[in-house]
Amino acid sequence: MIDHLLMNVLVTGGAGYIGSHMVRALVAAKHHVVVVDDLSSGHADAVAPGVPFVKADVRDEALAKALREHEVEAVFHFASRIQVGESMTNPRLYFKDNLAAGVALGERVLEAKVPYFILSSTAAVYGNPVRTPIDEDHPTVPVNPYGETKLATERMLFAYARAYGLKFAALRYFNAAGAGDGLAERHDPETHLIPLVLDAALGKRANIQVFGSDYPTPDGTCVRDYIHVEDLADAHLAALVHLSRGGESGAWNLGTGKGNSVREVIGTASRVTGVTIKVAHGPRREGDPPVLVASAERARKVLGWQATRSSLERIVGDAWKARRG
Ligand code: UFG
Repeated sequence: MIDHLLMNVLVTGGAGYIGSHMVRALVAAKHHVVVVDDLSSGHADAVAPGVPFVKADVRDEALAKALREHEVEAVFHFASRIQVGESMTNPRLYFKDNLAAGVALGERVLEAKVPYFILSSTAAVYGNPVRTPIDEDHPTVPVNPYGETKLATERMLFAYARAYGLKFAALRYFNAAGAGDGLAERHDPETHLIPLVLDAALGKRANIQVFGSDYPTPDGTCVRDYIHVEDLADAHLAALVHLSRGGESGAWNLGTGKGNSVREVIGTASRVTGVTIKVAHGPRREGDPPVLVASAERARKVLGWQATRSSLERIVGDAWKARRG
């Protein structure tokens, strides 16, 4: 049995935070990679050196051309809008850039007979948890257009797998965090907890505002399952190996099974940076469930993957190294 086929791989959003780590991991695993990114939120300097880069939207003809010219065998689809709050106020952006673009990409993939599709999905497909940890059989009732559009893209893949034999993995990330060397998270605007806490340590912000301290959790602040972005990249490689060995298509959670509170994140960041981080207590942010923790069992059993770099110390330490520059 060949364990590790080398493939021609196209990565959409390969100049973005998670996509750029994926490209690095694919190159390290000796796959041939081409990146398509419109740079609407990514950064050209994040694409690994020597990797062909096409500046284009996934709906452009350039995408179809790249699939043909590079004889692509697997598409990793990261390009998307990712802000839950923005998806509530500007849903058309999410229906266009996540759902319609995903459908257009699906069409190109079928036309070019690309056998494998790996989707960057999200825990937001579950909506408000009715049990914790959340396993993949948990009801999927998204509570915002971000989650809706990712779930609809997953459903497209399920249907295409049944009807056309496409092999896919939808990977539902919990809280992606951390960084590889020199690949700091650079969102604009930044809304994620860890980079904001580190900016407070760097003096770029006066403080970190804690969104709610009266949740029904051990210390009153929200609990999340933080997962190192390099662990996420490894999971995608494992999913490709699984599919290429004839494994079933499906959806998998990517998390650790363990949660940390906002207060624990801030405490860890104070220890790692050696800076006392100023905290301001603010109201709850709309739409935040108190606890979001993955059951990571299915990915362990079926993909043979589990997180190895996702202690909070390691995540915050690596994010700090990259953010400090
Ligand atoms: N938080 C603060 N202060 C801040 C920023 C965040 O207290 O300034 C809190 C949030 O309220 C939440 C926790 O820190 O409790 C984590 O917040 P993030 O914004 O970093 O991440 P989310 O859990 O809101 O969202 C992440 C992804 C989404 C995905 C979601 C689903 O960013 O894309 O997980 O699990 F949809």
